[in-house]
Amino acid sequence: MTARKVALDALVEIEATNAYANLKLGPLLERSGLDERDRRLVTELVYGTIRRQRSVDYLVDRFLVDSPPPAARAALRLGAYQLRLTDIPDHAAVAATVDVTPKRFRGLVNAVLRKVAKSAVEWPDDGTRLSYPDWIVDRLCTDLGDEAAIDALETMNRAPEVTVRDDGYTQDRSSQRVVEALGVRPGQLVVDVCAAPGGKATAMATFGARVVAADFRPRRVGLIASNAQRVAAGRASDASVWPVVADARRPPFRSACADVVLVDAPCSGLGVLRRRPDARWRVSERDVAELAEMQGAILASSSDLVADGALLAYSVCTLTAAETTGVAEAFAAEHPEFEPVAPPGDPWQRWGTGALLLPQADDSDGMALFLWRRRP
Ligand SMILES: C[S@@+](CC[C@H](N)C(=O)[O-])C[C@H]1O[C@@H](n2cnc3c(N)ncnc32)[C@H](O)[C@@H]1O
Repeated sequence: MTARKVALDALVEIEATNAYANLKLGPLLERSGLDERDRRLVTELVYGTIRRQRSVDYLVDRFLVDSPPPAARAALRLGAYQLRLTDIPDHAAVAATVDVTPKRFRGLVNAVLRKVAKSAVEWPDDGTRLSYPDWIVDRLCTDLGDEAAIDALETMNRAPEVTVRDDGYTQDRSSQRVVEALGVRPGQLVVDVCAAPGGKATAMATFGARVVAADFRPRRVGLIASNAQRVAAGRASDASVWPVVADARRPPFRSACADVVLVDAPCSGLGVLRRRPDARWRVSERDVAELAEMQGAILASSSDLVADGALLAYSVCTLTAAETTGVAEAFAAEHPEFEPVAPPGDPWQRWGTGALLLPQADDSDGMALFLWRRRP
């Protein structure tokens, strides 16, 4: 098996089963027998081709009369991706792709890829050029302004670098910045109402807080427990994380029990599109509205847990106004007992009463954060 063959099989299978790319690719790589270097190449080719699917379809569709069968379509995408979006030399990209294409499609794939290699391209619009659904481009341009939105979309077309905390937990810098902004102190009781898989909960525990880490999906609470154990094992301190299955819309905790309440809410994830290559094709505009409503409900019910003078934090890894300022403003209007707390500065930018971290500001995930204190 060559790397291109594994990549092509993966693309065909992911498309046929509508599977999550990251879930499908792992087992295929395990079975492939490829060495580490080739596995990295397969991952880059498969993730890149899926991420840039709209762009590569545009490149090849100019030279097709009919839509080709799935195996030919996948080979064309894989070839066009290498030709236009990697440093792989043209002749190698075409030859290696044609080599692994099923025999009956080789003529077609060879002819079309050669044309793609030779012809200049004029992109019809930013959605096609950058390979995002139009609604995401339109929405972010409206909410962030054209320049910031296009910059964010370009940044999210690059695979993220891996950042690892001192305790060995892999966590993006943006999440670490959220935790820093909370200023959690030793002995404080923190309730993290949407905690799985436990990234921020385990980080807050390293500051010596007692962290109740709740999530409403039992299986994901299992993840919090195993991550907390793994992180604690590598450390001398007795930092504590208590995993709990609970719905944050009806949190089963005493009113005013917490020094810090974190609502790291489920969101459309438009700030983390670089992480999951297929996420941009799965999320819909309707999700944004539904998730904004859910966030508002979770924030309102969780605010009841905040003690007098204590901190309430709302964060999301997305960039739409509806889910960030929209939710924060609606909450503030209904809850005058909370006063805004000054948000963190650079690389965050001011965003309503909170802060926005654009992916391009720190080459990190995109994130929004709002802080309030319950008036004593
Ligand atoms: C953005 S993730 C949290 C990430 C986590 N804070 C971290 O840093 O690792 C949102 C989480 O909210 C959970 N969730 C969604 N709706 C919920 C609800 N009604 N109650 C509690 N958890 C919920 C999801 O299962 C998901 O694990």
